[in-house]
Amino acid sequence: MPEAAFTPRVFSGIQPSGNLTLGNYLGALKRFADSQNEGIDSIFCMVDLHAMTVWQDPDALRQATRLLAAGFIASGIDPEKSILFNQSQVPEHTQMAWIFNCVARMGWMQRMTQWKDKAGKNQQNASLGLFAYPALMAADILVYHATHVPVGEDQKQHVELTRDIAIKFNNDFGQEFFPITEPVIEGAATRVMSLRDGTKKMSKSDPSDMSRINLTDDAETIAKKIRKAKTDPEPLPSEAKGLEDRAEARNLVNIYAALSEQSVDQVMTEMGGKAFSEFKPILADLAVDRLAPISGEMARLMGDVSEIDRILARGAERAREIASPILQKTYDIVGLVGAKG
Ligand code: TYM
Repeated sequence: MPEAAFTPRVFSGIQPSGNLTLGNYLGALKRFADSQNEGIDSIFCMVDLHAMTVWQDPDALRQATRLLAAGFIASGIDPEKSILFNQSQVPEHTQMAWIFNCVARMGWMQRMTQWKDKAGKNQQNASLGLFAYPALMAADILVYHATHVPVGEDQKQHVELTRDIAIKFNNDFGQEFFPITEPVIEGAATRVMSLRDGTKKMSKSDPSDMSRINLTDDAETIAKKIRKAKTDPEPLPSEAKGLEDRAEARNLVNIYAALSEQSVDQVMTEMGGKAFSEFKPILADLAVDRLAPISGEMARLMGDVSEIDRILARGAERAREIASPILQKTYDIVGLVGAKG
């Protein structure tokens, strides 16, 4: 099967662990809504099994999964147009992951930056799940034969590993069964940085809440965090090139560009010469304007969690209709008796 034989299909996932950040919104959620609205077949997943690779309090995990579902919907994902569900309701993900555990090589996994960052010096104490995590992520994607995966920059290496797994599987079994999935890393905000340190990624696990904007922050908190964001004393340059050695300034400009749906060059033409004391309130107003409706809608949706649970259960049913035959065919290819290939 040549690559063109695969129907374009988007898959992406977000971990329900902690708060959704502006990084998740600009790097992922906002772009998911764009791909859905372009009419591409789209599947979005709350990856609860990934979240478990580090300790999660059970009640907090349940709450975070529902809140994340609310975040998807409030960001414009329509559960009728797209398929929206939580990973653990579709057992085909973990079934496929076992096959990929047997395809992926130890050396490939040991090279994963996220593994090295998260396990740190304490690898002996990290969970086996954390080490195997990228094989489950490959299964998430390939169990749907997804061709495109919109993600932020930090997930690029995992999508490349997914490609390596697909290539090795196809070679080992002599058929072009899995697509060679493309990471889609586009726009001005593929790597939103911490508001306290322009060299660190904005992350839901950063101990400082001032380092990030959460989708659940109110207008006053958003404005305060932007006002206090680390910057340098120079005014903004008139060209993107002038931002090269100014990580914090570049980050705020990228955020402004992504929120206002402009290129960085356009923003520089508009904002060049302004001091941060002028630019920050403009950015804060824009951020509040774009994010407040999302947090309001999330709060409204959380008022009826049974409706969220119903949406996720229905999404899981639809997801299984696609995943199940692909898993069965995979079982058949590798020689498992009883598979309905
Ligand atoms: P996670 O939950 O850490 O992040 C979800 C999405 O948000 C993006 N993102 C960012 N983008 C820009 N700037 C930031 N500061 C920032 N922080 C996070 C991430 O790149 C991601 O797109 N392993 C994945 C979840 C996953 C997945 C998948 C993704 C599991 N299976 C299959 C795609 C396809 C993760 O931990 O993302």
